[in-house]
Amino acid sequence: MNTKCEALNGKSCVVTGAAGSIGLAIAKRCARQGASVALLDINPGVLDRAEALKKEGYQARGFVVDITKQQEVLDCFSKIQDIFGSVYALVNNAGFVDQRPIEEITPELLKKIFSVNVYGTLYCIQGIVEAMKKQKDGKIINFSSKSGKTGSALMVPYSAAKGAIISLTQAVAFEVASYNIKVNCVCPGITEATGVWSAVSRGYMQNLNLSEEEVVQQFTKKIPLQRLTKIDDIVDFVDFLIVKGEYSTGQAFNITGGREMH
Ligand SMILES: NC(=O)c1ccc[n+]([C@@H]2O[C@H](COP(=O)([O-])OP(=O)(O)OC[C@H]3O[C@@H](n4cnc5c(N)ncnc54)[C@H](O)[C@@H]3O)[C@@H](O)[C@H]2O)c1
Repeated sequence: MNTKCEALNGKSCVVTGAAGSIGLAIAKRCARQGASVALLDINPGVLDRAEALKKEGYQARGFVVDITKQQEVLDCFSKIQDIFGSVYALVNNAGFVDQRPIEEITPELLKKIFSVNVYGTLYCIQGIVEAMKKQKDGKIINFSSKSGKTGSALMVPYSAAKGAIISLTQAVAFEVASYNIKVNCVCPGITEATGVWSAVSRGYMQNLNLSEEEVVQQFTKKIPLQRLTKIDDIVDFVDFLIVKGEYSTGQAFNITGGREMH
């Protein structure tokens, strides 16, 4: 059902990792808020996801792009601007996680985790920052993690990359604040029904020899609000940052049910 709202009417949003769980949900919310949405992903399935949104009556377009390749990203953003005219919000949601002990971390794995999470985030910002500066308006939302605030065992490269996203967010926020561009990041906790959680829970089951139920129990009991994060908890927060959120920049917002408090 087309339940379109007006909040983002006439505006465009770019969401990376939009073939995946959280990214697709954010793209759908932006579309429902009235925005034209560019859905980016390395997974060609993103084209079908965009088509499905169009069939529901929303403005959406899919782009297959590897965000670790700078020129590919810049070309993609110039195409997006040719089609949509301008971009109001960029949601850098694409990410990649891996779980293994320190001894098993390879240079290739380190490179991949930093390339997708950190370099990819920066390349997408490079794709749009000049246009946002010219329009003197814009929102950039990056994806860190609870692991970016307090590192997670067995996830050293991912924790380091997500920590880097927090300082990247602050540095970019300082640099573009005078152009009225707000740059923040979100730090979700373990989120049900997502690609990252399925990889992480599989890793914990193998590395700690636990059943899936035991993994969920172990994590849930550390969360003050006593449940894992839901995709909608994140979508609601990102929606707020895009539609409202006019007086916050350079922040790293926890969405962890109280698990992370700094
Ligand atoms: N799910 C969680 O529990 C959780 C917790 C904290 C933070 N996060 C962060 O939230 C974001 C989304 O997580 P998710 O669970 O929805 O992930 P997901 O694995 O379901 O989706 C990630 C998407 O990113 C895309 N992607 C990966 N590499 C890419 C590349 N090189 N170029 C373009 N696209 C690429 C994938 O194809 C995929 O569609 C990630 O940044 C993740 O680190 C997730």
